[in-house]
Amino acid sequence: MLRGKKVSIIGTGNVGATVCYWLSMRKKCREIVMIDRHGVVAHGKALDILQATSPEGSHTQIYNSTDYAMIEDSDVVVVTAGATRKPGMSRDDLLLLNATITQQVIHEVRKYAPNAIVIMVSNPLDAMTYVAIKAGCYPKNQVIGMAGILDSSRMETFISQKLGFGYGQVTASVIGGHGDDMVPLPRYSSVNGVALTDLLSDEEIKEIIELTRQGGAEIVGYMGTSAYYAPANSIVKMIEAVLNDSRAIFPCAVLLEGKYGYNNTVNGVPVVLGANGVEKVLELPLNLEEQQQFAKSVNSVENLLDTLRKNNFFAS
Ligand code: LAC
Repeated sequence: MLRGKKVSIIGTGNVGATVCYWLSMRKKCREIVMIDRHGVVAHGKALDILQATSPEGSHTQIYNSTDYAMIEDSDVVVVTAGATRKPGMSRDDLLLLNATITQQVIHEVRKYAPNAIVIMVSNPLDAMTYVAIKAGCYPKNQVIGMAGILDSSRMETFISQKLGFGYGQVTASVIGGHGDDMVPLPRYSSVNGVALTDLLSDEEIKEIIELTRQGGAEIVGYMGTSAYYAPANSIVKMIEAVLNDSRAIFPCAVLLEGKYGYNNTVNGVPVVLGANGVEKVLELPLNLEEQQQFAKSVNSVENLLDTLRKNNFFAS
């Protein structure tokens, strides 16, 4: 059996393949396994990426299979399987289809890599993270949804575009669900320590918040399919935090059990990521307006979970 860090990626569409590419270039793990129903195309992608690693001097080996047994002993499993948005669709339109796919995938993941930290990517993200936790009977630290890093990186980009300076120095914070009600937090955003609220007017900040909320849809509008470079980069950041046990703070979708006053629901909040997945959930002191926005976001996710409950997704 191969030893060393192993990452498996379920689904080798644009996001899955880009994660494989970027992770292998960064030389952070011994082995990447890509699982996909479309074995021949996945094989082509695996070979193409593997051939790209050689000039980089990367030791990472890349395998593909239709057989979940290949994911055995993975440290991290990334779940990207599911339908993606087409123009005019919201993330929520994918709910029932992707919930069914997620349940099937998670049963296999839990069977073959029961101890792996699971990073969920399929949309609607917060609901799919919840489905994964329930379908796999996972402890709450083991399943983490990727969205907050992506939404924050979009906000950072819009801030530096608006300012015309500070490129690469912007730190923005977006909490809440990965949907139209996400909660960008200008009060927790800064440019190399200078508060955003001291650099931009209320009007300009409002514009940035709207651009951030629509950031994913904007790209779907241009490309006819979902974004993948920025999502893949966000996923690789999470994988590395787990593999390196770096204890880095990132906004991620996690199961809330009492934090922020909510229970048994998934939403995006800052967490400490390490070898055990979610090492700690951080509770930001939100002002009234931020609390109201967060409540709205929790409510949107709860509406999706209610639809799933009505369709017997969580019946035992
Ligand atoms: C996006 C998709 C990945 O926000 O949800 O681009």
